[in-house]
Amino acid sequence: MASKNEKMEAIVSLAKRRGFIYQGSEIYGGLSGTWDFGPLGTALKRNIMDLWWKMFVEDREDMYGVDAAILMNQKVWQASGHVDTFADPLVEDLVTNQRYRVDHLLKDAGFKVDGLSFDDLNKMIIENKVKSPNGNSLSEVRTFNMMFKTNVGPVSDESSISYLRPETAQGIFTNFKNVVDCFYPDLPFGIGQQGKAFRNEISPRDFIFRSREFEQMEVEYFVHPEKWEESFEMWRKLVWDWCEAIGLPKESVHELEVPAEDRAHYSKRTIDFEFDFPIGREELLGLAYRTDFDLGNIQRVAGKNMDYSVKGTNEKFIPHVIEPSFGVERALMAVMSSAYREDEVNGEKRIYLKFPEHLAPIKFAVSPLLKNKPELVAKAREVFTILKKKHGAVMWDDNGNIGKRYRRQDEIGTPYCVVIDFDTLEDNTVTIRDRDTTEQKRVPIAEL
Ligand code: GAP
Repeated sequence: MASKNEKMEAIVSLAKRRGFIYQGSEIYGGLSGTWDFGPLGTALKRNIMDLWWKMFVEDREDMYGVDAAILMNQKVWQASGHVDTFADPLVEDLVTNQRYRVDHLLKDAGFKVDGLSFDDLNKMIIENKVKSPNGNSLSEVRTFNMMFKTNVGPVSDESSISYLRPETAQGIFTNFKNVVDCFYPDLPFGIGQQGKAFRNEISPRDFIFRSREFEQMEVEYFVHPEKWEESFEMWRKLVWDWCEAIGLPKESVHELEVPAEDRAHYSKRTIDFEFDFPIGREELLGLAYRTDFDLGNIQRVAGKNMDYSVKGTNEKFIPHVIEPSFGVERALMAVMSSAYREDEVNGEKRIYLKFPEHLAPIKFAVSPLLKNKPELVAKAREVFTILKKKHGAVMWDDNGNIGKRYRRQDEIGTPYCVVIDFDTLEDNTVTIRDRDTTEQKRVPIAEL
């Protein structure tokens, strides 16, 4: 593989060719920043999300799951600070009126922008006479709120304003009291949620890495204010376990301690977990100490007491929060990029996806050696039914010759191809071919 960009292009092309990911609304010319998952992308995404749910909700005693509404009362976003501060810096090309995110524009032009305020960014543009990618002058830096605004109900006025949620976290905070009142959990405990989030990104880019509609998997972990560090460290370790579970090589994941000036408005400590994507080292997920910022805001704005009472004592306080926040699309992109391989088999270039078996969208492909021999097809159907009952994600594949089927299954990351031939009719054994080694073995059907 010659360059990182080539690897990215190869993945994007494979994702489309093999039914993982398509441009959203492509048939009408597309809608920037939106992506549709095809049959295999849907299966892969589901496997990633199910694994997360199992690891962080189902398998733990200290976790509860919720599924809150995407549309929420506008007060949620006023209290959380999103209405006032969830904004990116924007400049406009004064000739074409095209808009750009300032930090991206400056970064692409080779400037260092980490930790700079809006004013600093403005100065940098003016002092360095930075132009738009079209060579035209730029406007002053303005802020642009990234929330998608809408109105709920038939009347469009101030009181009907709502937003598509920009993070799933707030649907957890607003249900904190409900969960405590129903389940009486001891601290520390957490609430997990998976679901869509929406951000009107100024410049969505890099395939599914930065989109306008994406999916998050978030935990808000409620702790005693003096014990936040313990839980922060516990989640730090769990994040590493997660990266391993989805097959990311340890050396491709990096922790970045985010300096105070770059942290979100609610955070007292943040570690970004970055991954070496083909587009460069970028944020995969975040781990933040959100203090009592959110529950405190709810108490202030909604006027509801958010205290947690420690059982058997008089101690009462607003719990503090540790938040590991995972993006599904970024996890999926990291999984695809870690799995992507090129090699040579019998003098021919081969592309394959070396997914961990538990994430592979298809576990087995079953083929009759020849599709015009009814006795082979009938036997292959029998094997297919047995495997499908056992593993679910099993594909029937009788298109083209065996070599072509293997190539196709390699490209979608199917760990095993099972072929039924004339010997099968005699001795009930089949050929099973391994995706990674391309080795073929004969095994009895009963042992599959
Ligand atoms: N509740 C905290 C929160 O939302 P964030 O760092 O803004 O924190 C968390 O987002 C994660 O969501 C990111 O690490 C990333 O994986 C994912 N994410 C954020 N914006 C995204 C976008 N525009 N496209 C795809 N994924 C995104």
